[in-house]
Amino acid sequence: MEQELEKLRSDASAELERVSSSSQLEEFRIKYLGRNGQLSGLMKQLGAAAKEDRPRLGKLANSVRGDLEQIFTQKSAALAQQKDSTERPDLSLPGRRRVKGSLHPVTQCMEEICEIFASMGFSISEGPDIELDYYNFEALNIPEHHPARDMHDTFYIGDSVLLRTHTSPMQARIMEDKQPPIRVIAPGKVYRCDSDITHTPMFQQVEGFLVDRNISFADLKGVLTVSLQKIFEKDLAVRFRPSFFPFTEPSAEVDIACVICSGDGCRVCKKTGWIEILGSGMIDPEVFKMVNYDPEVYSGFAFGLGVERIAMLKYGIDDIRLYYENDLRFLSQF
Ligand code: DAH
Repeated sequence: MEQELEKLRSDASAELERVSSSSQLEEFRIKYLGRNGQLSGLMKQLGAAAKEDRPRLGKLANSVRGDLEQIFTQKSAALAQQKDSTERPDLSLPGRRRVKGSLHPVTQCMEEICEIFASMGFSISEGPDIELDYYNFEALNIPEHHPARDMHDTFYIGDSVLLRTHTSPMQARIMEDKQPPIRVIAPGKVYRCDSDITHTPMFQQVEGFLVDRNISFADLKGVLTVSLQKIFEKDLAVRFRPSFFPFTEPSAEVDIACVICSGDGCRVCKKTGWIEILGSGMIDPEVFKMVNYDPEVYSGFAFGLGVERIAMLKYGIDDIRLYYENDLRFLSQF
């Protein structure tokens, strides 16, 4: 019995030396220390030993159990530590970079434009993309069958409901609601059934208008010249060219000196040295009448500019469709 206990002690210690995983350790525990393990087996036989041998053998058995439990605990701690160090993050590895998002270039440009007009005292107002025919056309002096409707390639949703083709309906909406003096810009998305390298079916505009007593074309020229110079961060030349819009009279298209060649003539300005940048004019008395303003008392100017086009010129982009392909290699440059 004594020899068996000693043999168990040395066998078990030797075997524990070879244990290298937690599953092996568990097998070891069951084999030697478990309720039906070898040690318990020997202890059960103690009862059969001679009475005078029992205390000595009992003590020996307890010391074997104590020893085995101790080295078992040590082994278990050693294995846990080993596991810990293989699973712990390697602090010497270079960190993983988080990809930072950024605003879309057109949004950035839009925000800059809004800030510039806000700094000149314009407030910002937004209206619905789904618009009534009335505001998009009628209230802007474009009645049914007016040839100007053809220029708009309108997406109709119903007989009198459509996707707005410009931000100008905001002129009528705001004037209907407020009395002069008014100084507002209305940024937003507009829609036209058109798509090529200079057109996308959805694009963005900033509408602006100012109404008060004694507003003249000189005010229009002054405000637009200064704001375009601020938008392009350059003292560039600005040219006002007579044009026609049903809701302004007189009307003017505004050109800036080509930002690429500074007026010498290049591919972007088609060798003219000028680039058309916005439409504008003095608000037509007919528009005032629709919103019950007295055209004898009030006058005002309005303008509408395309944001994608301005962003293309500012950032040197030659295909408008790049903005809406969502290619991160393109977008992340801004
Ligand atoms: N709404 C016009 C367009 O989208 C642009 C425009 C021209 C707006 C003249 C105006 C304006 O306010 O006075 O083509």
